[in-house]
Amino acid sequence: LRVSCGATTMGDETSTSVPAQEQEPTVGAGSVKQQLSRLVISSLRTTVPEVEVEPMVEVSAKFADYQCNNAMGLWSKVKGSGTSFKNPNAIGQAIAKNLPSSDIIESTSVAGPGFVNITLSNSWVAKRIQDMLINGINTWAPILPVKKAVIDFSSPNIAKEMHVGHLRSTIIGDTLARMFEFSNVDVLRRNHVGDWGTQFGMLIEYLFEKFPNWQEIGSQAIGDLQVFYKASKHKFDNDPEFKERAQQGVVRLQGGEEKYREAWKKICDISRSEFDLVYKRLNVELEEKGESFYNPYIPQVLAELNSKGLIQESEGAQVIFIEGYQIPLIVVKRDGGFNYASTDLAALWYRLNVEKAEWIIYVTDVGQQQHFEMFFKAARMAGWLPDPKENKFPKTNHVGFGLVLGSDGKRFRTRSTEVVRLVELLDEAKSRSKSELLQRLTENGKIVDWTDEELEQTSEAVGYGAVKYADLKNNRLTNYTFSFEQMLSDKGNTAVYLQYAHARICSIIRKSNKDVEELKMSGAISLDHPDERVLGLYLIRFAEVVEEACTNLLPNVVCEYLYNLSEMFTKFYTNCQVVGSPEETSRLLLCQATAVVMRQCFQLLGITPVYKL
Ligand code: ARG
Repeated sequence: LRVSCGATTMGDETSTSVPAQEQEPTVGAGSVKQQLSRLVISSLRTTVPEVEVEPMVEVSAKFADYQCNNAMGLWSKVKGSGTSFKNPNAIGQAIAKNLPSSDIIESTSVAGPGFVNITLSNSWVAKRIQDMLINGINTWAPILPVKKAVIDFSSPNIAKEMHVGHLRSTIIGDTLARMFEFSNVDVLRRNHVGDWGTQFGMLIEYLFEKFPNWQEIGSQAIGDLQVFYKASKHKFDNDPEFKERAQQGVVRLQGGEEKYREAWKKICDISRSEFDLVYKRLNVELEEKGESFYNPYIPQVLAELNSKGLIQESEGAQVIFIEGYQIPLIVVKRDGGFNYASTDLAALWYRLNVEKAEWIIYVTDVGQQQHFEMFFKAARMAGWLPDPKENKFPKTNHVGFGLVLGSDGKRFRTRSTEVVRLVELLDEAKSRSKSELLQRLTENGKIVDWTDEELEQTSEAVGYGAVKYADLKNNRLTNYTFSFEQMLSDKGNTAVYLQYAHARICSIIRKSNKDVEELKMSGAISLDHPDERVLGLYLIRFAEVVEEACTNLLPNVVCEYLYNLSEMFTKFYTNCQVVGSPEETSRLLLCQATAVVMRQCFQLLGITPVYKL
């Protein structure tokens, strides 16, 4: 098993030019669960018109394909109210009977206290898969309850280190953005860069001192901004005269003095070009609206909160007291300056009122959880957001994540520096995947096939993909241990293994010498063998999985699906002969559908699949 060829293709799979929304929903819009839910709602309205409940449809592992679990809950609502139903089972029976006729459902049965087991029709499943092959994977997008979302992610701080925490935020945020975008949500990808604050006084004065000709110099001259930051901090801590100047510098910058604004911009530009290098390598798009962007809005936002009686004075600072917290949320510091919280309140106001986002998602380490909880509460006190219990939009969520640990179980660091430099980390991922690739190719005597460019692109795709997948496959809240050996292994649940699994499917199709583009139009899919059916059912669960990952903001759900899918494919391929069998056409189409869904998973995870068509 090895990568068939070095030709890398971007994962964006768009086989149709018609946007998903405008397409005839030939096999129904939304995930299977969403479609079954619509049938169940209709049945519930007929069965128990007097009560309104949400449909409860779940995947059923044991007795059928899906299950409706409404009967028990309904029973507890109607019993004793003169209902004609004798028990929950009778309600279940009625729900099953009242389901509108549909070509989705093959049969239903009612078990125990009213569980309605639903078996899907093979021909409908087959049709849904074929329809996806013809009209594109976008037709399998789930329907989400919002149209516009802000995802605030990456968000490093100027002149400070962009550390592994920011790498996690970048990877997790980008994946969430991709999942929402796939689900037809308009996503504002926001880089809330820390580009404002008292450290700038010190940085600017240090710049003036070190580089009297600072206006002319390029970013090269200043070199490493982190080193620059450290040196200026050292001076700040040890030279009282410099400290004094730095403090005045902040005031002059905030007062808008031209020279200070220019120097500030210069420092931000240098940082920005460093960040951009990382984003480019990771293939992540972001639009910067840093902290400074929201400065002009802070006074009016605080005035609004004040007029609502939320702001009080405490020990010389302006604060908001929030129920359940010992310390209040400071919104104006004792020296009159604004802070992280005041900026975040202004940014939230802007996102709600100017950008009209319905869902605002913040991706940072769990260490910042309290900050987010507190300012979300403040926003609720101001009436900007509904009570979270109502489960209504607009909504805010903090997407927290755990630490990255080194092999010693402590916070991940490299030998030379206190923190891990992202660029170095990516360099190492690439060079390690390159040397493994070379070794593999040499063993197979294949090296002649590859151009230098193919080799470069492939080692980047495999190396960076491995870093991303290792981060995304765990529940984001758990800490994980960073290990190049593990993430670049071709065994187990790794991106490398999945790359091979996918490439192998492509090579099965290629070696059949059949044109699947033609087959998908003329041939048909049948799911008679149990392993064909299991694979088919799992394929059409794709939309549900994306829906779940978006609803619960958990990218690992997609990783798990991708891995399981590859396992199910292996089982199918082991037990069902593809090439040369009477079912060849149908089975090749199943191979193709698996490859398309796997590629879409890679795309959602920001991983570039490596394969040859
Ligand atoms: N710059 C912050 C940090 O590095 C993260 C900002 C997150 N976004 C926000 N709106 N607070 O910790």
